[in-house]
Amino acid sequence: MSKPLVIGCGGVASVAIQKCCQNAGTFPELCIASRTVSKCDALKAKLEEAGTPVKITTATVNADDVEDIKRVITAYGPDLVLNVALPYQDLAIMDACLACGVHYVDTANYEPEDTDDPAWRAIYEKRCREEGFTAFFDYSWQWAYAQKFEQAGLTALLGSGFDPGVTSVFSAYALKHYFDEIHTIDILDCNGGDHGYPFATNFNPEINLREVSANGSYWQDGHWVETKPMEIKREYDFPQVGKKDMYLLHHEEIESLAKNIPGVRRIRFFMTFGQSYLTHMKCLENVGMLSTSPIEFEGKQIVPIQFLKALLPDPASLGPRTVGKTNIGCIFSGVKDGKPRTIYIYNVCDHQACYRELGSQAISYTTGVPAMIGAALVANGAWRKPGVFNLEQMDPDPFMEMLNQYGLPWVVQEDPATVE
Ligand SMILES: NC(=O)c1ccc[n+]([C@@H]2O[C@H](COP(=O)([O-])OP(=O)(O)OC[C@H]3O[C@@H](n4cnc5c(N)ncnc54)[C@H](OP(=O)(O)O)[C@@H]3O)[C@@H](O)[C@H]2O)c1
Repeated sequence: MSKPLVIGCGGVASVAIQKCCQNAGTFPELCIASRTVSKCDALKAKLEEAGTPVKITTATVNADDVEDIKRVITAYGPDLVLNVALPYQDLAIMDACLACGVHYVDTANYEPEDTDDPAWRAIYEKRCREEGFTAFFDYSWQWAYAQKFEQAGLTALLGSGFDPGVTSVFSAYALKHYFDEIHTIDILDCNGGDHGYPFATNFNPEINLREVSANGSYWQDGHWVETKPMEIKREYDFPQVGKKDMYLLHHEEIESLAKNIPGVRRIRFFMTFGQSYLTHMKCLENVGMLSTSPIEFEGKQIVPIQFLKALLPDPASLGPRTVGKTNIGCIFSGVKDGKPRTIYIYNVCDHQACYRELGSQAISYTTGVPAMIGAALVANGAWRKPGVFNLEQMDPDPFMEMLNQYGLPWVVQEDPATVE
């Protein structure tokens, strides 16, 4: 039995917390701590009204401040922290977990809020030169905690969302049950949903727009190949969704899968976008609205992308309006018993079904469910070992079982259409 502290109370957190309440055997009590405590109180009230058996408390925390996180951990006494705030807070929360002796789980790898910070820039530029990809986020910062977590006898589980997260577990599952060696992995993230707005993002706009406006890259024969943003476009006919255009992006699980899947030769990540989304994004980028550098406006410093976030619909509010389905999964090719084999493992998730169940759209749902599952497996000991781990380093079977149990059933298709 576990008593987690959940940090953050946005779209993903709301699903993860409601799923913890469906798993009260593992989580008989929990604390929700975030910057805006009124959001935590509102979710607690909703769950209590629905009759949850889980004892819920709330707290205010500034998760940029290690001391403040330690204060909240010490006051509540959790066995693990589930970080569903923003990637900017990952390192502060890991430091606080180490100081207080609690396990750590998150859904997205560290990136700095201020990419103009000269100390961070120097390290970033060295990494770009040495590794060959220019994304602002990478695992080096969190992997550097491995020895500290090992020595403390604590587990840090990185990237327990859908992608990364479920896609990482699909990779471990494919390797365990379907292949002797995996040669290529294509991760396909398709959102066939329509929210009816001219432009909105499905999760935190700042994080989302930074990710999709950056250079793409993929792993090939032991090194990174970088592309211009949206340079590589393909069409794929997604089961239960239909034909969609998709574009190659850099994505964080490529970095860890390249290390953890022995013999893999190529890993690519594609995400679907409609033309209207891309036109809006290009226009916002051209006028400087995606910039993360502060500018002076009427005597105040404002960060353009943060101002844009204030204008865009809150992703947590898209639930009632979004119709259609997501299809996220991986196409693996390799060999089994000396013969070539290709399989596709995917999940299809219906936006309206998610809304009916938990009041959220499918992007928050597909991230929040695996966040709860990762936390549960660390909490119950199945995935508890000292150190810092990505999900493909764990036994995939209990996670795959829980995906079926908690609303993200998956399909294995032999000989699917492949991506050129
Ligand atoms: N792996 C995946 O598949 C995947 C997919 C989607 C998203 N994600 C990740 O999931 C995480 C959450 O995304 P989301 O869409 O739920 O974001 P969101 O709706 O913006 O929620 C973020 C939450 O964190 C809180 N927060 C932000 N800064 C804080 C601070 N300094 N101290 C305390 N709380 C703070 C926010 O508080 P306020 O309410 O005060 O703003 C908000 O409650 C992000 O890291 C995102 O990258 C992962």
